[in-house]
Amino acid sequence: MEIKNSTRRIGFGRTLRYAILCGVAGVSMLHRRAFFAGAGALGAAMLGTLRISVGQGAVGTRRSVRGMTLNDPDLAAYRRGVQAMRALPPSDPRNWNRFADIHSRFCPHGNWYFLPWHRAYLVALEGIVRDLADKPDFALPYWDWTAQRQLPPAFAAGNPGSNPLAHPRPEFPPGESLPDDMVGQQVIARILGSPDFEAFGSARARGQSSTGVQWQRRIGARTELEFNPHDGVHGALGGNMASVPMASRDPIFFLHHSNVDRIWAMWNARGNANSPDPMWRNFVFNRNFIDANGSPWNVNVNGLQSTAALGYRYDDEEGPFAADVDFAGQAADADNPLGSSLGVYRRLADQVLPRANGALQRVRAPAGSGAFYMAAANNDRAGVGSQS
Ligand code: C2O
Repeated sequence: MEIKNSTRRIGFGRTLRYAILCGVAGVSMLHRRAFFAGAGALGAAMLGTLRISVGQGAVGTRRSVRGMTLNDPDLAAYRRGVQAMRALPPSDPRNWNRFADIHSRFCPHGNWYFLPWHRAYLVALEGIVRDLADKPDFALPYWDWTAQRQLPPAFAAGNPGSNPLAHPRPEFPPGESLPDDMVGQQVIARILGSPDFEAFGSARARGQSSTGVQWQRRIGARTELEFNPHDGVHGALGGNMASVPMASRDPIFFLHHSNVDRIWAMWNARGNANSPDPMWRNFVFNRNFIDANGSPWNVNVNGLQSTAALGYRYDDEEGPFAADVDFAGQAADADNPLGSSLGVYRRLADQVLPRANGALQRVRAPAGSGAFYMAAANNDRAGVGSQS
């Protein structure tokens, strides 16, 4: 694959780290900012022993909710699980709102722990639902918003009282669609062309120098995967989904993140390696998560590399993938006004992004899909010892 070859030439530690701000939809940008306004401080946590026991046993297959009937066994199990978690007393750590508090207290955004942390959070939920819904091979469905722009019907039907998956989403009434510049196949194709892990899944906190717990929620660079479809969908739905402290009270949160996690698995399946950096690999999420019994589950990033080892896989890991459809050809644009300054950062075989040293730049996306604002932050000094 051309994408793979072009990434190899970059070499780890020499990439421009950046965030892309899609500037077409001003309203969506406001939502995206609002989603992050509510992040609280990271609670202190003591280092403890690692126990990588969650997810051992059955390997469930996460499937697209798009193809599911309302009484699909995994959807039905999810409904039973959410209902059971809501019915647990607040003294039980598996109680739905207490489980949501885990996100509020610990979730990293805007740095390289974003993907592994949310992967662990989903695995923890999957374990609890397997147990409470009594379906040992339960696997979270995913909401492939690229292929399914409207809210999955199973999450809209009924009111919150009769359907545990329904939830107030004031910004996103039935019939509303997510826009192309947020979840379209060109967005996903660009993301999958990211040359290394920190360009793909957000970059380390500026100046990070250890695996100390204080680094879990410090800000590095938020990449397009996190900023655009991830933050964008949160904001577009509104309600709890649009606020960090409350987002995971909405059951759609976990299907949204299942799709983000799937894009990560897809990027890996295309031959892209995750960061080898010990500050990433050895970082411990200590006393963040719980297992199916409600006991603490401590896991480090290294323990979150293989989905199969964590008890799940995706039904379409090997593709074909919506983002593969005829993008490379369209991206080869000889008239690209940025062509001359684009020596640093290749994201697709024929598409290169500018080095901007943090400045905001407006460029035209390929195939006339609209204008994009790109904020490229060159923080290559941050924590990369071998950097020249
Ligand atoms: Cu921690 Cu989608 O958010």
